[in-house]
Order: sequence, then C-alpha cells, then structure tokens
Amino acid sequence: MKIAVYGANGYTGKLMIEELRRRGFDMVLSGRNATRLRAAADGAGAGDAELRIADADDEPALAEAFHGCDAVINCAGPFISAGEPVVRAAIAAGCHYVDTSAEQLFLQRVFDTYAEDAERAGVSVIPAMGYDILLGDMIAHLTGQRTGPVEELTVAYRVGEFDMTRGTIRSAVEMIRSGDVVYENGQWTAGGIPAKRTSFAYPGDLEESPTLRWPGAEVITVPRHVPARRVEVIIDAAAFTPEMSALLQSPADELDTFVSSLPEGPSGDRRPAATFTIVAEALGEDGRKARGELRGTDIYGTTAVIAVEGVRRLVADGAPGGVLTPAQGYDCVGFLDFLAPHGITWNVAITS
Ligand SMILES: NC(=O)c1ccc[n+]([C@@H]2O[C@H](COP(=O)([O-])OP(=O)(O)OC[C@H]3O[C@@H](n4cnc5c(N)ncnc54)[C@H](OP(=O)(O)O)[C@@H]3O)[C@@H](O)[C@H]2O)c1
Repeated sequence: MKIAVYGANGYTGKLMIEELRRRGFDMVLSGRNATRLRAAADGAGAGDAELRIADADDEPALAEAFHGCDAVINCAGPFISAGEPVVRAAIAAGCHYVDTSAEQLFLQRVFDTYAEDAERAGVSVIPAMGYDILLGDMIAHLTGQRTGPVEELTVAYRVGEFDMTRGTIRSAVEMIRSGDVVYENGQWTAGGIPAKRTSFAYPGDLEESPTLRWPGAEVITVPRHVPARRVEVIIDAAAFTPEMSALLQSPADELDTFVSSLPEGPSGDRRPAATFTIVAEALGEDGRKARGELRGTDIYGTTAVIAVEGVRRLVADGAPGGVLTPAQGYDCVGFLDFLAPHGITWNVAITS
C-alpha cells in the first residue's frame, strides 16, 4: 500500500509520516518546498521516502506526484484557500483521498463540486478525517440512530490544555472570518446568528457552562446521514480567551506576522496533554432524547492515527466511490473502537 502525504513537512504532516512508518506503509512525501520536505522526512525517520515536489495550485504536477499511489492524505491547510486543486488531482490520479480539513465552506464545496467526478473515478473522497470532524460526525451518527428522526441535534466541544499549531490558528481564523453556515428546517443557509443553546452540561459537571456557536463542519456532514431538522455545534465559551478574541480582531498582515513568530506547534512532551470532550445530544421528533459522549487526549497524535487508519480501510476494504462524510465511509462503531488503544472512550445512551 503506497500512501502520498501532501503538506508532509507541516506539523501534522510530520505526524502522518511517523504514523505511516509505524504502520509499515510505503509513502510518497509531497509539498511545495524540497528543502523543507527533505528536513521533515529525515526528522521523522523516513529519509528513504520518495519526495515529489508540486505547488498546491499546479494540478498536473499534483496529479503526477500522486501517480501510482493508492491514496492521498492532504495536510496542506488552510483548506479554503489551498485544498481544492489537491482534491481534483487525487481524483485525476485515481487515488482515494482524505484530509485534515474542518472548514465548513471547504467541505460544502467538496460535496457540491466533486461527488460525481469521484464516483466516476471509483475513488472515495472523505474530507475532515482528523480529530475534527470524524469523531463528532460519528458520535452524532450513533446518537441520532438511537432516537429515530431528529428534531434537534447538538454537538458540544470542550478542549483543555490545547496548544494550537500555526496551521490550526490560520485555519480557525480563516474559517471564522469567511462566514459560516447553519442547518435549520432541513436546509443549509448563511449563518452569523447566535447559538440557540447558550449553556451546556458537560460530563462530570454539576452545572451548565456558557457556550458559543462554533462553525463546526458537523453542520455540513451530519445532516447527510442523520435525518435531522436542525444541527448545531457549540463550544465551551472558556475556549475564547481574551488573547484569542484579540487575535480574531487583528488585521490580516499583523495576524500573519504574529502567527509566524509562534512555535510550529506543541512540543512532543506537551502534545499529549491536550484533552477533548465531544458530546452529541439528539432530541427525537417523538420527544425521546439520546446523548453520546466521547473523550480523548492528544489532538494532533489522534488525527494522524485517524487519517492513516482511514486510508488503510479505504484501500484494503473499499468504500463507495464519491464524496462521503466519515460516518458514511466507515462502520462508526468499528472505527471508534479501533481508537480505544489510542485513548478514545465513548458511549451512547437514551436519556429520556
Ligand atoms: N481536523 C483536525 O483535527 C486537524 C488536526 C490537525 C491539523 N489540522 C489542519 O491541518 C492543516 C495543517 O495543520 P498543521 O498543523 O500541519 O499546519 P502547519 O504546520 O502550518 O503546516 C501546513 C502545511 O501546509 C502546507 N501549505 C500551506 N499552504 C499551502 C499552499 N498554498 N500550497 C502548498 N502547501 C501549503 C505547508 O507547506 P509550506 O511549509 O511549504 O508552507 C505545510 O506543509 C491546518 O489546516 C489545520 O487546521 C486539522
């Protein structure tokens, strides 16, 4: 099995290299800069891997770079600006495709634009194959299944000790600034409205905590497999520190200079300290309620494990051609249980 990693020299790309090496897969490492790619390959213990250089806006060069590979893992974000040519090139090269995107607008474009091309080529295109959004998409699917048709489905996030990479900060800012989408009354429309739920009871808490609406891509993915009238993603308001709010207000050039001055991402010692809780709550049309809770640690390490296992399953087991959400592409219980040795725990129950 030969896997191409695009954006292989970024923080997340290097974790993909390590995970592919640990799992014993052949790999092709691709990106736009030979020196940075070479350093990444050597640093991740894959000095013998083949390097193929291609700019993200040079589709023929990208397709050539992916030629002969079974699947592509795209880690070159922000995806709203850099993602689409990589999707097109993977389809043209006949490769399955996954990525680490989480931006609503990018996902919506991929679903709207490339479904038929991917189907015709017989390849599976599954964006958002990281901590975001696979976990939320799957726990929402399993929760929605318990109630039947859903009136309202909420996905609530809480993170702790989360030191973001430069790429995550850039993508989050681009995502928030480019506007968001809501799913209400069975359709997607432009967002920009406050959350319906302004507080949430996270596992283990005695009281509800204040929450804010988050432009989570579950709004795009979940309605494709859970029959729901309304899907909303919220986040613990504590995630919006004063520093984060100031960053979001700053002009683009200042922001870029500031982000470039930050460390690439958390150190290897610090990375596993990040914790996350994702809760899905479904209110069925018949009044039944279900709640799914999922917890884990090490956001970036988990992302590498998810994406590599994701492409392995696509190549080894097959999946329908087309653009799919994670929950459509895989058996959700089987995939989440695979993640148990990597610290993921989850459960779903009817609550009333
Ligand atoms: N969904 C999740 O759970 C999850 C988890 C981890 C990361 N991510 C996302 O994955 C992306 C990468 O994160 P990261 O932490 O690895 O960031 P990073 O360290 O900044 O790396 C970004 C990578 O993308 C490449 N890149 C960016 N823009 C490009 C362009 N226009 N053309 C070609 N290459 C380009 C960079 O190449 P150069 O070095 O040549 O600039 C680099 O290899 C971000 O969007 C982040 O939000 C998501």
